[in-house]
Parts: sequence; C-alpha cells; structure tokens
Amino acid sequence: MKLKNVVPWGRNLTEYRAMGLYTDADKYKKILGCGDGPASVNVELTHLGINITSIDPIYQFNKKQIQQRVQETSMLVSEQLRQNRDDFIWKNISNVDELISLRLNAMQEFLEDFESGKREEQYQHQELPKLSFNNKEFDLAWSSHFLFLYSEHFDFVFHKKAILEMLRVAKEVRIFPLLDLKNEKSPHLEGILSFLQESGYIFEIQKSDYEFQKGANEVLKIWHK
Ligand SMILES: C[S@@+](CC[C@H](N)C(=O)[O-])C[C@H]1O[C@@H](n2cnc3c(N)ncnc32)[C@H](O)[C@@H]1O
Repeated sequence: MKLKNVVPWGRNLTEYRAMGLYTDADKYKKILGCGDGPASVNVELTHLGINITSIDPIYQFNKKQIQQRVQETSMLVSEQLRQNRDDFIWKNISNVDELISLRLNAMQEFLEDFESGKREEQYQHQELPKLSFNNKEFDLAWSSHFLFLYSEHFDFVFHKKAILEMLRVAKEVRIFPLLDLKNEKSPHLEGILSFLQESGYIFEIQKSDYEFQKGANEVLKIWHK
C-alpha cells in the first residue's frame, strides 16, 4: 500500500452511532473495527472503557506520515465536496467548512492517540480479507465507509472473502453504507445477500439515522445461525 494513494478520512463516535454501527447495548462487547483508518471512534470508545481493536493498512505508517497525508488530502477533499455539493445532504452538517473541521478534529484526536494505541495493540496493521484473530474472538466486527463504498476498487470476490473473514472472527458483522462512491446501490450487494442466505446466515438491513451521502442511510447486520 502506498500512502499517497490513500485518502485518510475519519469519522467520530457520534457518526458511528448514527450509522447504527454502535449503540449503548454494545458496551460490554469486544469490538473489531475493520478499516477504521484515522477515525476517532477507537479512542473515544477506549476512553469510555469499551474494548475495541481497529485494523487498517494505514497503521503501518507512523503518526507524522499519516498527519502529512491528512493535511495534503483535506484540501483536495474540500474541493471535491464543493464541486459535488448536491450529492450530499447538508442537514446535520450545514456546509463544507463545518464538515472539514469536524473531520480534522476527529483525525487529530486519532493522531494524538495513535502511537500509544499502537503499542497497546488497539490499532493493528492488518487488512481484509485475511485477519490474524481467532474464530469468534470478537462479539462485533464493523466496516464504516470501506466495504461496498469502494465497490469499483474491490471486486465481488474480495467482498465475499472479507465479509466471511469478519464472520469468522466475530459473532456479528455490521456494514455501512450499502452504496458505492457514485451514490448507487453497490453492484456487489445483491450477490452478497444471496450468498449469505444460501450459506445459512441471518441478516437484516436496517434504516440508520445517518445520511450524508444522498441515499446512504442503511446498515447491513449479519449474524450466525
Ligand atoms: C474512507 S476510509 C473510512 C475510515 C473510517 N472507517 C470512517 O468511516 O471514518 C476507508 C478506510 O479503509 C481502509 N482500507 C483500505 N483497504 C483495506 C483493507 N484491505 N482492509 C481494511 N481496511 C482497508 C483505508 O486505509 C481507509 O482507512
């Protein structure tokens, strides 16, 4: 992985809650965040005493390298958001400046925690579709803004392997959003749902309170039988 090809962009705990990935009922669970990147969800939950581990390929880099990449990309992302304003719903967040500041705050919180958290193995350099954890080591594994969103970059086989691997290490899997970067339903979604059904998993698509990318307001929850 080359850091220059990554757009590090991280959300906070309030947003993970709104997406339906985390609720107070999960507070005694052992949680695995897949692709949490520079989100502040890990540090915020850790401060609340919740057991969470995050994995992401960007954790192979050091704080300075990630910080520099965050700075480089925030200008670019801000420009893209201004150009594609209509693809987003400006309700909870009213404009691009407010959004950039929210994201930069979340990423700063992550960056301040990153080095000590990496030593504690709260942040681990691992990547889907292969994880080092034991079977059902976690109660819950989630993906926010990685699976389905990057459907053009990661094919159906990758999605199937990644979701199966998350189901191997966790009792429940949650994924948000179900749309791709073009704001269209992920081309892999129907195939994944059929595969889950055929393989005997239980799943549900639930409405979430979060909708920033237009139409991205559903979370997929999957359980073992
Ligand atoms: C758009 S960011 C989302 C960050 C965070 N989950 C959030 O919602 O704020 C997508 C993340 O997926 C990570 N990623 C890319 N390839 C991955 C892989 N094979 N396994 C796990 N994460 C990956 C990227 O490094 C990046 O941090």
